[in-house]
Amino acid sequence: MWSQSKFVYQLLILILLERQSSAIKYKFSLENEDIFTDCPNKPSNVLNISGLFDTSESTFKTDFVSVRFSGNLTCVWNIKPGDRIQFTFEINRFDRGSWQPTVFNMYVRDICPALYEKEQYWYKYWSKYIINKEQVRDKCILPGTKFIHEPFDVELLFEAQGLPLMGQYKIAYTLKALDTKGVERETSICFEMLGEFQRL
Ligand SMILES: *[C@@H]1O[C@H](CO)[C@@H](O)[C@H](O)[C@H]1NC(C)=O
Ligand SMILES: *[C@@H]1O[C@H](CO)[C@@H](O)[C@H](O)[C@H]1NC(C)=O
Repeated sequence: MWSQSKFVYQLLILILLERQSSAIKYKFSLENEDIFTDCPNKPSNVLNISGLFDTSESTFKTDFVSVRFSGNLTCVWNIKPGDRIQFTFEINRFDRGSWQPTVFNMYVRDICPALYEKEQYWYKYWSKYIINKEQVRDKCILPGTKFIHEPFDVELLFEAQGLPLMGQYKIAYTLKALDTKGVERETSICFEMLGEFQRL
């Protein structure tokens, strides 16, 4: 579990929620060899990162300062053309024995039209590096879609105002697919990153 983690990878992801001079800058230091972990206590229809991507053509290499990603991700989640893909992320803090919500959350009603929008944070830190974007743009994350990436450093930077972010945190990502009637597909995706915020 957390305290037994042998590896502290300095994974930097840039999440710019606020851009104000009083904001404190952090990097998120990942405490896990595998980068992504399963969401706890999830029902069997909630899949992990492997339910979203086939990662067999990709590598994450770390030098303990940064994580370099290279290769391809192939979408394997069984969604249908025209589905609306709802995306959320939530930052939770470990406090007195349990995970507590924080004010740092994001809800995206439909990620597909925004996947390659330059001002989105996932573009700056991920989809920007997809070299075949023109070929896959219309497919969003339909099964079989292969994202071919130029190698990039995974960077998780964060700016926040207020009290310093101390202690153990996790970032939980969820994806849900809804058909044109708004009915949720049978499976959804949930995965997490565990770590700490280090002040820069
Ligand atoms: C994802 O779930 C599969 C099947 O339940 C499991 O074999 C695999 O280890 C999990 N992968 C991760 C990264 O947690
Ligand atoms: C990624 O996909 C391309 C096109 O299919 C292929 O040529 C290349 O070898 C793949 N890369 C890896 C690391 O498998």
